[in-house]
Amino acid sequence: MNFKKSKIKYLYYFLLASLIALSFGAQSNNNIDNNKAKLTGMPVLQSGKWKAPALADNLKNPIKDIIEASKKGKKIFSIQCAICHGKSGKGDGMAGMALNPRPANLTSKKVQEQSDGAIFWKLTTGKPPMASYAKIYSAKQRWQLVSYIRTLGKKK
Ligand code: HEC
Repeated sequence: MNFKKSKIKYLYYFLLASLIALSFGAQSNNNIDNNKAKLTGMPVLQSGKWKAPALADNLKNPIKDIIEASKKGKKIFSIQCAICHGKSGKGDGMAGMALNPRPANLTSKKVQEQSDGAIFWKLTTGKPPMASYAKIYSAKQRWQLVSYIRTLGKKK
């Protein structure tokens, strides 16, 4: 009789312990996933079209010597942007192959028909997987990049 009672008790403990173990398991799995996201720093991808606000069109390239600026922009581009956008800006850089969305083809009509201000705004704000360059490059350097991107449209 005693034996039977304790058997039921053990069974009860066993069930309780498994439940606790299960819930801990589930929790730690979640933690692993969260940590993974933190470690890889994978940005949350925003879906949909990337459109600069209309106000951005009012921003004008303040640089007078556009040829000189585009030369400087080209240098920055080859260091920082070509890896994703490709050497000639066609969106075919090695690091961009696996990205979603794919890096834009900067020579395309879709990009070239945007205003200088809109392109400047995009370089400034960024959009995952592309970084914001507001803190990486000065406004002058971002305008140099815009000047260079303009020359990509003419080469077609
Ligand atoms: C990590 C890869 C990566 C790097 C590095 C990168 N880009 Fe991008 N870029 C992207 C992706 C991806 C998009 C497309 C984003 C979208 O359409 O949602 C994009 C979009 C753009 C656009 C907007 C095109 C459009 O459709 O309006 C411009 C302009 C641009 N990039 C310029 C640059 C410049 C200039 C640099 C360097 C300072 C640079 N990018 C560096 C990945 C990158």
